[in-house]
Amino acid sequence: MTVRNILKMGDPRLLQIAEPVTAFDTPELHALIHDMRETMAAVNGAGLAAPQIGVNLQLVIFGSDHVNPRYPDRPLVAKTVLINPVITPLGADEEQGWEGCLSVPGLRGMVPRWAQIRYTGFDETGLAIDRTVSGFHARVVQHECDHLIGKLYPMCVRDFTQFGYTDVLFPEIGEAEDD
Ligand code: NI
Repeated sequence: MTVRNILKMGDPRLLQIAEPVTAFDTPELHALIHDMRETMAAVNGAGLAAPQIGVNLQLVIFGSDHVNPRYPDRPLVAKTVLINPVITPLGADEEQGWEGCLSVPGLRGMVPRWAQIRYTGFDETGLAIDRTVSGFHARVVQHECDHLIGKLYPMCVRDFTQFGYTDVLFPEIGEAEDD
């Protein structure tokens, strides 16, 4: 397994539309997911999309099996591999929340997201996933899946008075590396 380099905003590969995965349960797919897990863990991330390591496939990972000690109040989201996702908003309610991104290091912004969504897709073995979620779980899924359509969270910020450096906005966190 290898910790891969994470592309940063400005790299045109982050702006592409990702291709669907067509072959499941292959050694190549498992190796890619291993690398993504290791890469995400190395920087304490909440999620990672394949395009962030330069792989233009519709594949995201998110979730954790332990509470991040720096964010004890953040709800635990089950470790998930989500391939070829489809997101459907349920209702018109939006929620504002702070987001960061491993491809936008050192910054945070207030981003509106659908409060409740249904998402479908497949895991790495081709097993169907179909979940209805809200709150932080819904936010993480929307953030990661935006990476598959070339969208980074700063493109979703509406109020740029609520966009800035993490160590200034949240001095108690300091130089955070997560998200
Ligand atoms: Ni991101």
